[in-house]
Amino acid sequence: MIMISLIASALCQSQCAMVVLMYTMTNPIKHYLQFGDFSLPEYAYLLRRTALLKAKFKRYETWHPLHDRTLVMIFEKNSTRTRLSFEAGICQLGGHAVFLNTRDTQLGRGESAQDAARVISRMSDIIMIRTFGQEMIELFAAHSRVPVINGLTNEYHPCQVLADIFTFYEHRGAIAGKTVAWVGDANNMAYTWVQAADILGFNFHFSGPPGYQLLDQRVAHAKRLRQFDDPLEAVAGADMVTTDVWTSMGYEVENEARLAAFQAWSVNAEMMRCAKPDALFMHCLPAHRGEEVSAEVIDGPQSVVWDEAENRLHVQKALMEYLLCGEL
Ligand code: CP
Ligand code: NVA
Repeated sequence: MIMISLIASALCQSQCAMVVLMYTMTNPIKHYLQFGDFSLPEYAYLLRRTALLKAKFKRYETWHPLHDRTLVMIFEKNSTRTRLSFEAGICQLGGHAVFLNTRDTQLGRGESAQDAARVISRMSDIIMIRTFGQEMIELFAAHSRVPVINGLTNEYHPCQVLADIFTFYEHRGAIAGKTVAWVGDANNMAYTWVQAADILGFNFHFSGPPGYQLLDQRVAHAKRLRQFDDPLEAVAGADMVTTDVWTSMGYEVENEARLAAFQAWSVNAEMMRCAKPDALFMHCLPAHRGEEVSAEVIDGPQSVVWDEAENRLHVQKALMEYLLCGEL
């Protein structure tokens, strides 16, 4: 019996390696650097696949399509969820992760993104990067032999919005035609939502204080975006209300000015009452209770922030599998 199961698992492992080899040899490399990199049919597949992989995980079912594959994770900024979800995710798919940061690698001593990409991508199968400027990750991807995933830049956070959309789908079904209201900073999350709204066909309402609003040149082509001066108007009738920290990583010197400017853009119970009665509340976390959201809202019945955090794991497993194996 033990011998049969060993043979079966060896067969499965070599078949898995063959699937990755065949897919990567016969298809151009695909990167995931911003939400706009994938099409509506690709997102439809990823959401279906995420549900399936999540169900397997809940049943403790072994699924190792990425057996022996290596994920390199490069962090130039702090992280709890992104690191854990990528590391656990690749292990659950049969591979393993290597964690690199700026301080301990030559990236911190001026080695170029091009050279780092050439070297790191020769020793790994897939790479996730959390960094400052989007241009670094674009440059890295242009010189990489393997898929590169954006694990957050100053400009975008596509893995988080993908998890949020999957969370909405789990609680409320399809997001097309619904309204998502953003109250707060025009940051990496907000710009990613703008892209997602156009691809998935939902309405995106944005409200932020003067000086912290979306830049016209970055949203000139957005079709589903409406901007509001008054946050209460932005959330009126919304199916979901979401926010994020007032000061993102890399902007800490502006903290004091931001604290003063954002006071009226705090999501509290009064604001939630302007949305639909069954509106969901989301926050990518980490959160600052009493600043961008009240404890009553984030810890209240409309909040799905813990599902949202867990779903980072499941969507990213679907994403890594898709980038290395295509549709299965
Ligand atoms: N939401 C998110 O990306 O969290 P971390 O910064 O902890 O990775
Ligand atoms: N906008 C935040 C998200 C953190 C996950 C930041 O960039 O710091």
